[in-house]
Amino acid sequence: MWRECATRFNRWRYDLYAPVYDKVAQGFARHRRRAIGLLNPQPDERLLLVGAGTGLDLDYLVRCRHVAAIDIAPAMLERLRERAVKLGMEVDARVMDGQKLDYPDGCFDAVALHLVLAVIPDPQACIREVERVLKPGGRVVVFDKFLADRRRAPLWRRAGNVLARIVATDINRRLGDIVAVTKLQPFHDEDAGLGGFLRIVLLRK
Ligand SMILES: C[S@@+](CC[C@H](N)C(=O)[O-])C[C@H]1O[C@@H](n2cnc3c(N)ncnc32)[C@H](O)[C@@H]1O
Repeated sequence: MWRECATRFNRWRYDLYAPVYDKVAQGFARHRRRAIGLLNPQPDERLLLVGAGTGLDLDYLVRCRHVAAIDIAPAMLERLRERAVKLGMEVDARVMDGQKLDYPDGCFDAVALHLVLAVIPDPQACIREVERVLKPGGRVVVFDKFLADRRRAPLWRRAGNVLARIVATDINRRLGDIVAVTKLQPFHDEDAGLGGFLRIVLLRK
């Protein structure tokens, strides 16, 4: 029940943010380029973007022929479709809940989770679904904001999170706690800025 309400709220607020999202998120361009470079999707591989937003990642994926993109907010996906057309890409873009993916098991070679695990109401459900739809040996790249694993958020950060979660994103999630519900194996983990708050992590099934 809580998850459904929070998911509906996300759909509503990202539909609202869609016209201005690119202006706010363009500051992450170098992180995106780095994360996709590490994921290194090959032209024939099947790639899934979960919580794909307006498709800012597509600029780095023009060589990829089998890109699927899902998001809960139709207005975000509308912009993604327009971007895909401009780039001359065919992208299978669908409104879908990242906590309940409507894809069969083992159908993707690679998945990108950019700025979504800190936003989606149930990140553990999302990562379980990502594990399920990945082929054995498939890769996941995560780029997001996290609290360091095993660290407890100080009071100011817990207080700040009340507002941060409503307006934008949870700032106190630990990636280790999220990935722990799967058998995905981290094989690369780098500090992407702000004293380790931003991280780029690669996982393998
Ligand atoms: C901060 S934006 C990131 C967008 C994009 N990945 C990027 O890097 O710019 C978070 C996105 O997650 C989407 N989202 C939130 N909850 C979702 C859910 N349950 N299923 C799928 N997408 C969701 C939002 O609509 C929004 O587009």
